Amino acid sequence: MAQTGPEKRAAELRRELNYHNHRYYTLDSPVITDGEYDRLLRELREIEADHPEMLTADSPTQRVGGDPSPAFTEVEHSRPMLSLGNAFDFDELSAWHRRITGLLEGEDFEMICELKIDGLAVNLTYEDGVLAQGATRGNGITGEDVTRNLRTVRSIPLAVDGGPQHLEVRGEVYLPVAEFHRLNQERAANGEPLYANPRNTGAGSIRQLDPKVTAARNMQIWIYSLGDATTDAPNSHWHVLQWLADLGFRVNPENRRCTSLPEVEDYYRYWLEHRHDLPYEADGVVVKVSPLEMQDRLGVVGREPRWAIAYKFPAEQATTKLLHIGINVGRTGSLNPYAVLEPVVVSGATVQHASLHNEEDIHRKDIRIGDTVVIERAGDVIPQVVGPVADLRTGAEVEFRMPENCPECGTPVVKAEDDAMHRCPNSSCPAQFFELLKHFVSKGAADIDGLGERWCGILIQKELVFDVADLYRLEKDRLLELDRMGDKLATRIMDNIEASKNRPLPRLLFALGITHVGSEVADLLAQNFLGIEELTVAKEKDFIEIEGIGPKIAESIVSWFQAPANRAVIEKLRTAGVRLAQDSLPGATESADGAPFGGLTFVVTGTLASCSRSEAEARIKGLGGKVTSSVTRKTGYVVVGASPGSKAANAEKLGIPILDEDAFLRLLESPAEAQPGEQQGSLV
Ligand code: IVH
Repeated sequence: MAQTGPEKRAAELRRELNYHNHRYYTLDSPVITDGEYDRLLRELREIEADHPEMLTADSPTQRVGGDPSPAFTEVEHSRPMLSLGNAFDFDELSAWHRRITGLLEGEDFEMICELKIDGLAVNLTYEDGVLAQGATRGNGITGEDVTRNLRTVRSIPLAVDGGPQHLEVRGEVYLPVAEFHRLNQERAANGEPLYANPRNTGAGSIRQLDPKVTAARNMQIWIYSLGDATTDAPNSHWHVLQWLADLGFRVNPENRRCTSLPEVEDYYRYWLEHRHDLPYEADGVVVKVSPLEMQDRLGVVGREPRWAIAYKFPAEQATTKLLHIGINVGRTGSLNPYAVLEPVVVSGATVQHASLHNEEDIHRKDIRIGDTVVIERAGDVIPQVVGPVADLRTGAEVEFRMPENCPECGTPVVKAEDDAMHRCPNSSCPAQFFELLKHFVSKGAADIDGLGERWCGILIQKELVFDVADLYRLEKDRLLELDRMGDKLATRIMDNIEASKNRPLPRLLFALGITHVGSEVADLLAQNFLGIEELTVAKEKDFIEIEGIGPKIAESIVSWFQAPANRAVIEKLRTAGVRLAQDSLPGATESADGAPFGGLTFVVTGTLASCSRSEAEARIKGLGGKVTSSVTRKTGYVVVGASPGSKAANAEKLGIPILDEDAFLRLLESPAEAQPGEQQGSLV
């Protein structure tokens, strides 16, 4: 049947958006602006919202969707996902080459050299050109279905044109090093333990139950082989890669054809030296025999094909002396120990400091001051102390103890049982405030350009600011009195402070530096609350209801908003004219998914005569509704029994429909009337 108006337009938009997505994420060469892309996407979203029956799995609107899964289901791979034998030096590589040359009876063969990406292997299945399933490698025979998470990886095409009916491709998803740093900077700023390396963080991101978390991580993929496919694929690995690239898959442009072993060695040596220039981590080079007919002849031993080998880069470790353990007080008061080392060169960089996580970790690894220690540098990551070389001990080494008082302000340090970190509980500790101020003005937060780390320190030292809200009371004349402050910089700082009054809500929430509220959690909060006012009255329960927020985060948010000092800061921000709320909830349109109360949130307050509050809540949930404890603009109805509290008044203020007990019971009888639009005036 020919497609009609909206259907035709939706198909056009999907094609166009998928094309631009490919240009942007796979080819890195966009042809339209982000604004134009967003307009097209919005148009498609609108059509799909009006015509849900037109939604297709390959629609670019479906990159992130749905609720977290309870668990992943197992997937059996149609062909095993193999692993690779290793060569740790040129002799081992030569031995491999000799062996296969013998098996191929001296015939010449082309080899393809690829970078060995340190990520997570996945298999993508396309049926009729549409991404139908994405699975992890698992044990090579069975993996896990992580389709929803892989859909969020922008360089994975949701649809391919011109491929076979059934197509499986394989590749490595990874977290770009820059993304890894961004995440860790955020964690450091929040006083949270740092992620160890991009590989584990990336693998963890793909195995998130909530695809929104994966989506926020900006993962990438390189496709390196074909799995099962109903087609006569090209006859060499090289041509398979070209064919896959032509279909729209992201194939690494650093792959090389080599005809001799010295060429392979050149490729390896080049990348051994330049691996850190790559925006991702590579832990070696994979060498593959190219002609597929030869691959078949060589076959597989166990799980390892004879036709390929991983030529690994050496581990980047070095030994040096641990001179001292320093303590850095973080923004949330965490006492972060770090190693002060005798300078040593590891993979081209001089290392003088390394992180030591926390006291327990230091003791578990039995690291003592004065030890010769092994340090490791994975990619660009902050160097880690792996452990001591115990044989080199002289007996003069000293065990480390956390100080009993904050090294910055002298306040006695506290350590909660369920917290790995020791913390300084003094919220006006100058070290904490310095870290908070740096965080507040940083990009992604209030973004006050011109006010870098040095000026933050000076403003505190000169007692011009005691909390972040004091920034909005700064006067240009006072700035000009500071040493080395010129008119140009002072103007820039003042202009940027003014501009920062209007940052979007998630940025403001992130900027406040609430423990465990990184930019991802800040986004979630802004999707569920209109502004600071509602957040201030919300209960832990209201936060836990949000997917992606657990009890620990919820507790931290509530206690932050309850602290009088923080409330005072909020008041000062409000007085200064900082925007503390948004006009509407982004994407607040939850689908009604068929259930009569689907997508509706109820608050029950006061005493009901005909049933208990929990019975009422159970009936609401039974009809697909949600029950929360505080009234926000997102609340659908407030059910009011006898002697209600402030919630009824809140509802009135916010214009939320109020149901008395009779109206509530009537609604339970005819629940279909509950959905907005079908509701006629007040039901009371
Ligand atoms: S080929 C038989 N190519 O290395 C071929 N693997 O140790 C199997 N990997 O599980 C895979 N980059 O996760 C291949 N360019 C590349 C690779 C690569 C990284 C990983 C992959 C695989 C592991 C094998």
